[in-house]
Amino acid sequence: MILCQISDTHIKAERRKAYGIVDTSAMLERCVQHVLARPQRPDAVIFTGDLVDWGRHEEYALLRELIQPLLEALPVYLMPGNHDDRQVLRDAFGEHTYLRQWEAFVQYAIDEHPVRLVALDTLIPGSGSGELCAQRLQWLDRTLGAQPDKPTVVALHHPPFATGIGHMDRLTLAGSQALAQVIARHPQVERVIAGHLHRPITVRFAGTVASTCPSPAHQVALDLAPDAADNYVLEPPGYQLHWWSGQQLVSHTAYVGEYEGPYPFRMGGQLID
Ligand SMILES: [Fe+2]
Ligand SMILES: [Fe+2]
Repeated sequence: MILCQISDTHIKAERRKAYGIVDTSAMLERCVQHVLARPQRPDAVIFTGDLVDWGRHEEYALLRELIQPLLEALPVYLMPGNHDDRQVLRDAFGEHTYLRQWEAFVQYAIDEHPVRLVALDTLIPGSGSGELCAQRLQWLDRTLGAQPDKPTVVALHHPPFATGIGHMDRLTLAGSQALAQVIARHPQVERVIAGHLHRPITVRFAGTVASTCPSPAHQVALDLAPDAADNYVLEPPGYQLHWWSGQQLVSHTAYVGEYEGPYPFRMGGQLID
């Protein structure tokens, strides 16, 4: 199974550019085409939050248009980030019934693939930070406990770890230590995947591996100073492919764009000297 992760698309109404610079709509279109043109089609796609920029109806309507080729080709799962609005998201994607598995929060489990997907809702309306309250974590503990033998990916928008990028770390995830305690009780969790950082980052977490995903639009500048400037850069846009081998989850970062190659390593069966 190949699970494609796309994160932080930040779509704005009328295809307006994010921060006046980043053409997030065109970049998402290119990302969608790139995913669908891969030699192997993913079995599912999960969008790990910050789907739109301001949680507005018009933005979700445009998001739907932009991802329509994916919606027609394979199962697509959406999740809220700090830029999203739970109710507007649910209204805009009414046929995505998994978004309403639990009324209180947009948390859901998807059981129909070889790897189970469990999505968490870290949204605090009006805040850039995130939260996993006791109610959300009890749901997680219960949900993981119901399928202890199935390899599982837990997805959430805010990463539950510090990254070293000061201005992003100040947007905290309340409850991340309690999350670690829950995850540690359920060793079938192969990976905790997040977004929000607009960069690929990997860390050991609660006996498993936690990671973040690049954005198909802008990336957060890589500056590990506590007082790093709050900047973004237009490094190559990307997304991730989490490949389940049957035994392990192996994660690849893919870059959207035109690059030279492919070139062969060998000519006539011999390595080229
Ligand atoms: Fe974001
Ligand atoms: Fe975010």
